[in-house]
Amino acid sequence: MASNLRPAPYYENYAYRSENVAPPRFTSDYNVYLPHAPPYYPSSVPHYVPRVSTQQSVPVPAVQAKSSAKCTPRTKKALCLLLSIAMLLIGAGICVFLIWYFVTDSCSGSEIQCGTTRVCVTPSQWCDRKQDCPNGEDETRCVRLYGPENLLEVYSSENKDWYSICYDDWNDKYGETACEDLGYNSNTYFNSKAIPVTTGSANILRINTSAGDIDLYKKLYNSNWCPSQQVVTLRCIRCGTSNRPMSPRNRIVGGSDALLGEWPWQVSLHFRGTHFCGGSIITPEWIVTAAHCVEGTRSHPFYWTVYAGILRQSEMIPSKGFRVARIISHPNYDLTSKNNDVALMKLQSPLSFNEFIGPVCLPNAGMMFETDQRCWISGWGAKYQGGNTSKELNAAVVPLINSSICNGRYIYNGIVLPTMICAGYLQGKVDSCQGDSGGPLVTMKSLLWWLVGDTSWGTGCATQFKPGVYGNITVFIEWIYRNMQANR
Ligand code: ARG
Repeated sequence: MASNLRPAPYYENYAYRSENVAPPRFTSDYNVYLPHAPPYYPSSVPHYVPRVSTQQSVPVPAVQAKSSAKCTPRTKKALCLLLSIAMLLIGAGICVFLIWYFVTDSCSGSEIQCGTTRVCVTPSQWCDRKQDCPNGEDETRCVRLYGPENLLEVYSSENKDWYSICYDDWNDKYGETACEDLGYNSNTYFNSKAIPVTTGSANILRINTSAGDIDLYKKLYNSNWCPSQQVVTLRCIRCGTSNRPMSPRNRIVGGSDALLGEWPWQVSLHFRGTHFCGGSIITPEWIVTAAHCVEGTRSHPFYWTVYAGILRQSEMIPSKGFRVARIISHPNYDLTSKNNDVALMKLQSPLSFNEFIGPVCLPNAGMMFETDQRCWISGWGAKYQGGNTSKELNAAVVPLINSSICNGRYIYNGIVLPTMICAGYLQGKVDSCQGDSGGPLVTMKSLLWWLVGDTSWGTGCATQFKPGVYGNITVFIEWIYRNMQANR
């Protein structure tokens, strides 16, 4: 599954070797486009510090010299000297204040900074249902979905723990609110369901129905009595349904031709008119791909076109493509180690879902994918190392490989980081390859297909003891939701 476009070293799957010695051209390209990255991990030292330090060179001695020069009459000398000293002191005071203001971290010890502002709040102010930050950052990340059942959970700052919601008095309006807080649009909302409270899960919130027309989260209160003994599960989008019964076949390297509708979340990302990477649909507007696909000059949305619901590259003509509005690369993506190799693409206009086009489910907190879990990879990458992009979409089965095994001395010897997950076979033969990058590694659990990884790197393709390495999506869900929410 790869491409005939192979000029740049990063496109070749040399994994660590070639990319360690990326040419400088690359770095300057990167600098040109980096300012567009969102400021999610602001430096603790604000960028205006240099301006202050240049002010330190305020020509105080000059001021002093000038003023004392005018003080010729003896009677005025003392007064002038006093004035000069006062001015000096005031100047120094202002300097000290400015330095303190800009250089000191605004928040002390346990406090939390509100976005990029200088406002700080205490940990107990997060998710306390009261907006304490000027832009409300303290109340926007207080819901999550948990486990394969999509259990809805709300964070209580008071008890420093996640709580389920008692199903009594729950309705779809509340469901839509919770989904919007995660970053979905209310028009994708699918359903809320009730599941029995499991024994031992005492953490339940109830809805105070007499609370009037206030925010959902303000209506919730701690209760050890949930009459229905059922809690809320939530699906913000109808995701993870494949429209073909999957038959165990093999052929990407060692995969086989996919059927239309089998991998409806798979997209082909064309850079300047040619297939370059894969991607996965997660909402009508958002695609998950790899950060290394959109490095440097490729970080500009203008050059990309997204094709969904098409198996053959020859059928991907511009009139059928979707334009990209925004590309968000993980701010901590590292070119050399491929740490945090994930990016989001926002489309200019939403995809319409049908039998052949649909989203894959993002994994939830607390989802355990077992070692050896059967997963599928798909893409238009090369069918053998060094080959061209495939004309047709291919797919193959690969089991997950435990990171401690994958990091073994004779395998990747410690370079597989926690943001990565290995999948494939130690004997080789079946693997993703050049051109599959960014594309999905999915698994089926509780009757749904989940996005476990995004194709990232490997040494060669389908080589013995060198399985494929994928971005570990579970680690990125917070980041994905936060960015969807912030760029609605
Ligand atoms: N980096 C490659 C790309 O850009 C994907 C590599 C996957 N390699 C592997 N052996 N699984 O398409």
